[in-house]
Amino acid sequence: MMIEASRVPVDKPLPGRKALIEVLNNAQPWRRPVWFMRQAGRYLPEYQEVRRRAGSFLELCDAPDLACEVTLQPLRRFDLDAAIVFADILLVPRALGCDLSFREGEGPVLSRVVSAEDVGRLSRDGMVGRLGAVYETIGLVKASLAPHVALIGFCGAPWTVASYMIEGGTSGDRPHARRAAHERQPWFDALIELLTETACDYLARQIEAGVDAVQIFDSWAGDLDDGLRQRYCETPIRHIVEGLAARGYGTPVIGFARGIGAAHRGFAEATGIAAISVESSVPVAWMARELAPALPVQGNLDPVAAAIGGPALRRAIEHLVHTMPADRHIFNFGHGVRPDTPPAHVAETLRIIRALDRA
Ligand code: CP3
Repeated sequence: MMIEASRVPVDKPLPGRKALIEVLNNAQPWRRPVWFMRQAGRYLPEYQEVRRRAGSFLELCDAPDLACEVTLQPLRRFDLDAAIVFADILLVPRALGCDLSFREGEGPVLSRVVSAEDVGRLSRDGMVGRLGAVYETIGLVKASLAPHVALIGFCGAPWTVASYMIEGGTSGDRPHARRAAHERQPWFDALIELLTETACDYLARQIEAGVDAVQIFDSWAGDLDDGLRQRYCETPIRHIVEGLAARGYGTPVIGFARGIGAAHRGFAEATGIAAISVESSVPVAWMARELAPALPVQGNLDPVAAAIGGPALRRAIEHLVHTMPADRHIFNFGHGVRPDTPPAHVAETLRIIRALDRA
């Protein structure tokens, strides 16, 4: 069965209507919402400038006025439907007591957690308070956003954050973390449980500070087989979703379990997320047929197409917009914007989407 891409053509934002939130609430949006993972970052010269001024990436995350500024930068250039608070998933392990640094060209470096003693040293007390700069940034951004732009908060999923803590940063295909998962090491289970509770507290505080939706990034979910995915991705994320609901928050949760392919459908059901974000390798017709009837789908333009531009970019956008119904789709990339993406290609992406939706 082919689902016909419905059209939602409106030219001007209606007061107070946020298209992203309308889609997340399964309502008819005033237009197809668009935002991009890593829409703030190194591909923007004005980001590079502020980062130089801050001194480093972490100092930038810790300075709410500068973090607010870089959060807003892409909104000044592009007609987007959401801002995402500028921070990083690894601020949580740092707040738990891990050393964290970002080395030029190397990515993050963390002190490693590989035993019950290491997990025991992590301190949850005061953890949520140590992330105060993030809530302050949210407050500042919130005060300057146009009323039709939603603000997204986020955290890393327990499995993905644990994998960085166990490996001590970015490392090949995460052999130590995967081994600990297969062996169901008790210290590993304790770490996942700690990160689950922490993520719930952290997202609750972001919601209190003013975000309209939250996204949980499980960037390495594709590492795990059925049994481990259920135990270490689906169950913890379901606990986070249920934890927020139990505290009375109706804020929609977007889940991004990158690389799980056909398991997205079961993942959505098992976790109770409001919308699912999908990587670029998932067939768009399958997203429309198998996912969109159940929940809104975010994705999944190949970030490489945006870096290249031209006919490759146009073809990929047309395929998505023509296949995904506008009222069940949040246009995004399948992963973050690449640093080698010319900003003009991002502007072009928005122009093409808006023109197709008006046609
Ligand atoms: O615009 C946005 O999306 C908001 C900010 C944001 C950042 N990181 C800023 C950032 C978000 C949502 C993240 C999430 C994040 N961080 C993830 C999950 C999404 C994904 O990409 O899979 C992960 C795994 C991390 C951990 C992380 N942070 C790594 C591995 C790296 C180094 C690699 C890289 O891209 O440089 C970072 C650094 C980082 N986080 C940068 C930014 C803008 C680059 C820092 C810089 O050099 O200026």
